[in-house]
Amino acid sequence: MTAVIKELQKRFGKFEALKKISLDIENGEFIAILGPSGCGKTTLLRLLAGFDSPTYGSIHISGTEVGNINTTLPPEKRNIGMVFQSFALWPHLNVKEHIKFPLVHHRFADKKMDINKRIKEVLDITELTSFAERMPSELSGGQKQRVALGRAIAPQPDLLLMDEPLSNLDAELRMEMRREIQQIHRLTKATIIYVTHDQSEALAMADRIVVMNQGRIEQVGTPREIYSYPKTEFVASFVGKANLIKGTWHENYFEPELASNLKWTDLGVSEELKKRNIYPLRPEQIALTNDNEGIPGIITSVQYQGKEIHYTVQTQNQSWVVHTEIWQAFQLGESVHVQMKQEQAKLEVKEEKIVSY
Ligand SMILES: Nc1ncnc2c1ncn2[C@@H]1O[C@H](COP(=O)(O)OP(=O)(O)O)[C@@H](O)[C@H]1O
Ligand SMILES: [Mg+2]
Repeated sequence: MTAVIKELQKRFGKFEALKKISLDIENGEFIAILGPSGCGKTTLLRLLAGFDSPTYGSIHISGTEVGNINTTLPPEKRNIGMVFQSFALWPHLNVKEHIKFPLVHHRFADKKMDINKRIKEVLDITELTSFAERMPSELSGGQKQRVALGRAIAPQPDLLLMDEPLSNLDAELRMEMRREIQQIHRLTKATIIYVTHDQSEALAMADRIVVMNQGRIEQVGTPREIYSYPKTEFVASFVGKANLIKGTWHENYFEPELASNLKWTDLGVSEELKKRNIYPLRPEQIALTNDNEGIPGIITSVQYQGKEIHYTVQTQNQSWVVHTEIWQAFQLGESVHVQMKQEQAKLEVKEEKIVSY
């Protein structure tokens, strides 16, 4: 199954929730739609599912135009499964009946399918075999979410749409369910469009991430591309933490404003960030030292995290987020110097000038 979205727009009155976005999704891909609350993720998913129609543009699923301003193929005729944050289980049906329901009622379900055999398979995939007769009220949050997943995948949809499916689960369960959803993706080979505001979920699970902001797509790329080469300031700060360093981009090096005696060379950065004279420096790309090299500052917060320590450091006119290994223990209020780690880029001293404030 492929999905092609062309200049898709959704207006609610004067408000433009989706601003003519375009996107190509390949067969079998796991796509994460990542963005802050209110950026239009659910709106996009509802248009893909057929719950709502666009006000401009079109949606093609497997080469067929299923939605445009004039026509909308209803959800039950699209070969899709949906999983919601709220689970949306029926209180009067047990686990087995939830999985059976779409097999009997969805038009795209294969009519020759052996229903009992398929129920068994789905119970097995979702590890619900021993809970088959339980009612929703007798299940934990994680089990409920597995029922919702089972119900969605039972009729073997080509496209699985998930809207923040793990947000209502506690941290440990979320980790476990991530692995299960990845497993389901491998087993079913379905194309998955997974909406989340949680960057670590998107980075961990997706083949490609679509970063959205205010009804627009900011960047599309693999998790590595998005994290290592953010195209815009928004992507740099929304996906992972970034210290947006002001300076001047020259032909092949960056001159940070705060340490104009330094040249940072061999950095990969997008044209847009170059134009804006910014370099996004990740917290783990920074070293703190007691020697006098780099930019002088004061430690203003310390958070011990087990495998690393998170600091904020105030230099003359910038606050920095820095993550160090635990053997590098600095105290609140201590004077330090902030430096880019050597392995991130070539640092060259342009001129012998001591930086001090
Ligand atoms: N039916 C609606 N009527 C008016 N505004 C809506 C409607 N649905 C969503 N919106 C608005 O569109 C924007 C995007 O909403 P939504 O797609 O739900 O965001 P997300 O899922 O990314 O949090 C929000 O500002 C929201 O208030
Ligand atoms: Mg939403």
